[in-house]
Amino acid sequence: MKTNDQLDHLRKLRAEARLGGGQQRIDKQHEKGSMTARERIDLLLDKGSFEEFDMFKTHRCRDFGMDKQVFPGDGVVTGHGTVDGRTVYVFAQDFTVLGGSLSETFAEKICKIMDLAMKNGAPVIGLNDSGGARIQEGIESLAGYSEIFQRNVMASGVVPQISAIFGPCAGGAVYSPALTDFIIMVQKQSYMFLTGPKVVKSVTHEDVTEEALGGAAMHASRSGVVDYPASSGADAIVYIRKLLSFLPQNNMENPPVVPCTEQADREALELNAIIPENPNAAYDMKEVILQTVDNRDFFEVKENFAPNLIVGFARYNGMSVGIVANQPAHLSGVLDIDSSIKGARFVRFCDCFNIPVVTFVDVPGFLPGTAQEYGGVIRNGAKILYAFAEATIPKVTVITRKAYGGAYCVMSSKHLRGDINYAWPSAEIAVMGAKGAAGVLYGRDAKKAEDPKAFLADKEKEYQDAVANPYVAAQRGYIDDIIEPARTRARIVKALGILQNKRDTNPMKKHGNIPL
Ligand code: HXC
Repeated sequence: MKTNDQLDHLRKLRAEARLGGGQQRIDKQHEKGSMTARERIDLLLDKGSFEEFDMFKTHRCRDFGMDKQVFPGDGVVTGHGTVDGRTVYVFAQDFTVLGGSLSETFAEKICKIMDLAMKNGAPVIGLNDSGGARIQEGIESLAGYSEIFQRNVMASGVVPQISAIFGPCAGGAVYSPALTDFIIMVQKQSYMFLTGPKVVKSVTHEDVTEEALGGAAMHASRSGVVDYPASSGADAIVYIRKLLSFLPQNNMENPPVVPCTEQADREALELNAIIPENPNAAYDMKEVILQTVDNRDFFEVKENFAPNLIVGFARYNGMSVGIVANQPAHLSGVLDIDSSIKGARFVRFCDCFNIPVVTFVDVPGFLPGTAQEYGGVIRNGAKILYAFAEATIPKVTVITRKAYGGAYCVMSSKHLRGDINYAWPSAEIAVMGAKGAAGVLYGRDAKKAEDPKAFLADKEKEYQDAVANPYVAAQRGYIDDIIEPARTRARIVKALGILQNKRDTNPMKKHGNIPL
């Protein structure tokens, strides 16, 4: 063949491969309101940055007529490119080829880019849209999944792993995304479950739709599997790009610092008046976060799951941080099973990737009740305690109001190696609220008093004045300073600045035994 013919041949093969399962199936994908695998990659990566691998790789199955169903690339597009100029490795399952089903070859392609990502220290982004194991292949397909799972686990804490689900994701296939750091699902177009509605009906006799069983809205609010329910495929991609902007490339790097366009010591006078006079009244902790971070830009994660605890990313003077905050506007900001798990996983992610954590505390304690105790609030509540205690990243804490009982200890207290711990003058740091304390200490005496109500009110005030304030903790050094709320941003920026070179370690061990 002459050179020109060779080039034409190559171009023809490439054009064929780019068509995946063919124009008809691409049209079908568009009719569903979905993008193709390649369209998703184009949207995710910086223009022109995608370099594809294994475009010509095909499956080796010859059973069930598969010798006649051979597609170059075999249903998954893999390679690398850049997001905001930084390298990422990506795989996108192509539903137009045999329903994006996973064959041995398909798995090998994914494993290849995961291995490269690990060696070169860059994130892995998986764009999922698949009918699961390639039924014609059987065990080879299962072996392929297992090879991916193993790599997901090895990569965990080494490079960030992000999964987006654009279509079906069922059976054991859900476990690869589940092993990654963040999962984004597209509402009404995707679902994730172990067994679909038909199997559920035959086993438990429940009638349930795909959306109710494993849709994005359910996973984002009830199961906590999903970090963000995207309104469209494009929205999912925008979320991934922004998420990456807060993260380092790998566990050996610090997160990127971006130029800050506003004053590092900007005051927020509104914060001096945000705490209501009534200690039981709610206020919105998100407002505290927005008033203190750069440009009011807070990137929330798992917003609809356990909203009594807020987690997400933001920047202080350009420095990327993870934020963990009790939300008094939901269940009084109480800690419970779900919020403990949510907080623990987020803190551990930040710790893996050298992202400092800023914690805002207003917590009346752990939620009492049989549902919580039967559900294992002891085991699950221990997770967030464990996560804060083992974390060696810079930890800055601001107690805005209540820090009661065990929840005080847990929320990045000084005793769990909190580096810089501040309190607002409105802080109440005590074993419990003044009302509860007066009842326990003086309940019996109150019965004998002339006016039990007035007697208890007196004792409550006595307890409040003596204990439920920030000064007792400050006298012990458990609080480094009591700060004016309006100056919170400036103080956090300074704290993060001096902690930039922090080095702390845990004892050598294979791994700890977090109460799972
Ligand atoms: C091979 C598959 C396939 C699969 C779909 N296709 N799933 N081929 N293996 N798993 C093919 C179809 O035959 C069809 O081919 C094309 O993909 C599109 O599928 P449709 O059914 O036309 O699309 P749709 O109506 O949108 O339905 C999508 C679907 C359905 C819900 C995913 O296809 C489905 O239920 N598939 C089977 C799912 C399944 O049971 N997977 C195994 C799960 S067990 P043509 O040629 O007609 O276009 C598993 C174990 C993993 O995954 C274990 C890991 C440890």
